[in-house]
Amino acid sequence: MHTPAPPNRRCCFTSSVCGLFLCLLLLPPRICFAGDPYVFYDWTVSYLTASPLGQKQQVIGINGQFPGPILNVTTNWNVVVNVKNHLDEPLLLTWNGIQQRKNSWQDGVLGTNCPIPAGWNWTYQFQVKDQIGSFFYFPSLSFQRAAGGYGGIIVNNREVIAVPFGLPDGDINLFVGDWYTKSHKDLREDIEDGKNLQVPDGILMNGFGPYRYDEALVQDGITYQIISVEPGKTYRFRVHNVGISTSLNFRIQNHNLLLVETEGSYTVQQNYTNMDIHVGQSYSFLVTMDQNASSDYYIVASPRDVNLSTWNKASGVAILHYSNSQGPASGPLPDPPNAYDTFFSMNQARSIRL
Ligand SMILES: *[C@@H]1O[C@H](CO)[C@@H](O)[C@H](O)[C@H]1NC(C)=O
Ligand SMILES: *[C@@H]1O[C@H](CO)[C@@H](O)[C@H](O)[C@H]1NC(C)=O
Ligand SMILES: *[C@@H]1O[C@H](CO)[C@@H](O)[C@H](O)[C@H]1NC(C)=O
Ligand SMILES: *[C@@H]1O[C@H](CO)[C@@H](O)[C@H](O)[C@H]1NC(C)=O
Ligand SMILES: *[C@@H]1O[C@H](CO)[C@@H](O)[C@H](O)[C@H]1NC(C)=O
Repeated sequence: MHTPAPPNRRCCFTSSVCGLFLCLLLLPPRICFAGDPYVFYDWTVSYLTASPLGQKQQVIGINGQFPGPILNVTTNWNVVVNVKNHLDEPLLLTWNGIQQRKNSWQDGVLGTNCPIPAGWNWTYQFQVKDQIGSFFYFPSLSFQRAAGGYGGIIVNNREVIAVPFGLPDGDINLFVGDWYTKSHKDLREDIEDGKNLQVPDGILMNGFGPYRYDEALVQDGITYQIISVEPGKTYRFRVHNVGISTSLNFRIQNHNLLLVETEGSYTVQQNYTNMDIHVGQSYSFLVTMDQNASSDYYIVASPRDVNLSTWNKASGVAILHYSNSQGPASGPLPDPPNAYDTFFSMNQARSIRL
């Protein structure tokens, strides 16, 4: 269970000395001032209005986008992100999996970092030293993650280092996660009052609700994500579980998922028909568009380890659309693994070899 992070103690906000201090703390000076390239981002974090499940609500966007922009960098680059907090409460972004200090990301709060007060800005600076892979950032305080504020981090190999698979024809990011129509502030209040988190209201994919695969479960007029592809091409799908508490089973109808990377490590390449992705995890799959496009295909993220009699909500469903598709997806979703096979997830995790 995800609980709001405790307030930060060692805070050194507002001092410009802090930036330098932070730099010296996080990175040896040799790295701080080395010749590795710098990349600069300017982000404004603010509330946006969206209706992913058909009901208007406040979500957290970055530069007007929900999910936020992708941080697309290369190994050893220095990343400088000036974050303006236009929310009405403090904000702390966590760079999940970016190794600023050993294990620092695991507690969700950078011990040396500080929340940005409402109306202020702060410049994060870090180097993606000796890293590759797919990660994501998210707001780690005050249950804000339940309202969004997340986005992808791609760390590309330096050109001199070979990637252990052919260059894909495209790169597709999928942010999947459980979702509540209640605001993050109300959810936070519930938790503070000692109430249990309710069953989520649905599962989003890239900030969108489900395709209407079932008229009883999905109301009319929901906007869903469409992933457009070309037949015969191979795409790298980077799939992140950005949710609060729900493990998800991810699958693409009729398509193999060739696992190639998870959280910064290339894996032994192996095909899966589906993959359990737990909260906070990121996976890269190569998916070849080798089907006949007699229709569109479902992309599914369904809850794992939940009591289905209390869940009775739609799964997350996006559409894989070939340019030569003959028509819409229809019929039942592809089957998940057996819901009560508690060993499935564990065995699957064990089958992954780095
Ligand atoms: C990321 O940047 C590289 C070049 O550095 C580019 O080739 C690639 O298409 C970009 N990927 C995304 C998802 O923007
Ligand atoms: C705040 O943003 C301004 C420019 O928008 C920048 O000059 C300044 O360094 C930023 N302050 C911090 C603490 O990041
Ligand atoms: C994975 O499946 C694809 C077909 O979708 C096949 O072409 C490929 O050889 C398989 N790779 C492995 C390593 O099993
Ligand atoms: C397309 O593939 C599906 C499933 O693999 C098969 O049932 C269907 O008959 C095929 N359609 C055509 C036109 O080949
Ligand atoms: C699922 O929830 C229902 C209703 O709350 C309960 O009666 C049932 O025992 C639960 N099943 C499991 C396997 O926990």
